[in-house]
Formats: sequence, C-alpha cells, structure tokens
Amino acid sequence: MDKSKRSAVIAGNWKMNKTPSEAKALLNELAPMVKDADCEVIACVPFVDLTAALEATEGTNIKIGAENCHWEESGAFTGEISPKMLAEMGVPYVVLGHSERRQYFGETDETVNKRTKAALKAGLKPIVCVGELLWERECDITEEVIARQIKLDLFDVSAEDVKKTIIAYEPVWAIGTGKTATADQAQEVCGFIRATLAKLYGQDVADAVTIQYGGSMNADNCEELLAKPDVDGGLIGGASLVAAKFQPIVAAASK
Ligand code: 13P
Repeated sequence: MDKSKRSAVIAGNWKMNKTPSEAKALLNELAPMVKDADCEVIACVPFVDLTAALEATEGTNIKIGAENCHWEESGAFTGEISPKMLAEMGVPYVVLGHSERRQYFGETDETVNKRTKAALKAGLKPIVCVGELLWERECDITEEVIARQIKLDLFDVSAEDVKKTIIAYEPVWAIGTGKTATADQAQEVCGFIRATLAKLYGQDVADAVTIQYGGSMNADNCEELLAKPDVDGGLIGGASLVAAKFQPIVAAASK
C-alpha cells in the first residue's frame, strides 16, 4: 500500500484537560520539539482553550482542532458551539463522534452524520471516530459495527469531502485503559475501513483518506502501529497531555 497518497497525521485529543493557561504552556513547550515533523501535528483542545491555543501556535506547524461541534449554524441550542463559530476563529479541525460522546452524551450515528456534513460545509476538516465495544469484538461483529458506523456517519458526504475527512479507528476497549490493540488488530480494522470506503467511493478516494488509530497509543507502541500499511497516524489521548510523551509519537510518524 502506497502511503504517500495521504498525509500522516498525529493528533492529540486533550479531552476535558488543561485550562487556557495550561494549554498555552503545553503548546509553547511542544512547538520547538515538533517543529521539524514530517507529518501533520494537531492539538484538539477544549472550546475555552481555542483562543489561547491558536495564539500559542501561530507561526508554528501545530494545527488546532475542537473536540465537537453542533450541526446548525446558530439557534436555540444552549451550551453548543457551531461549525461557523469555529471556522470564523480559524480552527481548521474538529473531532466528531468520539466514543466518549457516544457513551456519555447520547451521540448517535445520525447526529455524527449531521455534525460531519455541517463541519465540512463550514470548511472544517472533521476527524470522525469509529470503534467497537469490547462486547462487540467478543461477539465477533467488529466489522459489522465498523461498516455500519462508516456508512451512517458518512451518509451523503461527497467523495471530495471524504478526502478532507480523517477517520480515527478507536476500539472503545483500548481507550484510556492501557490496553492497546495489537498492531495486527489495528491494521485489520484500518484496512477494513479503507476497503469499506473503497466500496462506497472507489479505491482512489479510499487511498487518499487518512486513517488514524487511537487507544492507548504511546511512545512504546507507536512505531509498530504506525508501520502498518493502513495506519496513517494516531489520535492520542493521555500521551498528548505531556510534551515529552507526545513528541516521540510525532517523531515515529515522521520516519
Ligand atoms: P488514550 O490515548 O488516552 O487511550 O485516548 C485515546 C482517545 O480516546 C483519543 O481520542
């Protein structure tokens, strides 16, 4: 598989961590450490950190992302943030459909699909997360679950827009648990995601889509995971909160 058709992307997902001043400090520390990276480097941060993060990374190669957005441009949706708001701030990326949003906040494939289309319409690049529960893996329905999520989450998304979308494969049982999928397990599902995209959009489009692995990725296991032909990057939780832990993952993706 020719990985040169797509970008390698290492993205941190900070989740509900770091105040604005802490965000600034972490990004100031990280920027010089990753300045020569031969991959895209993204930090997805809490909404209230976006201004500080954009300021701290100005003139660096670190791009900023949000961790969610609503599907409407504006309206009576107390507590929500629209894609238009993010776009006007100059935020290029947004994480959508993370399993924590699905698990704790009632996110469904239908709402992930609406958010994805709205984000793309506003000019944002979505990082759409899919992944099976442990129970689903044990019942041997991982592929059914993933195919369903890909088809529903990307319903009505054009081929041009899919190329701007990053898919993150995050097995729910591997998130924050210290249990990483083996490199072979990650490859198997990332390869399956690409095959599913190929059925929907054709091989050329599928080959152009960046597919990340996420779930306890760290300095020790990243090299083996990133060496796999369909693993084009990582979506990193815990290890993105400490510059010295995130930098080796960026370095591994740059090889
Ligand atoms: P951890 O790296 O902490 O397992 O989190 C992964 C994740 O959920 C990234 O979105």
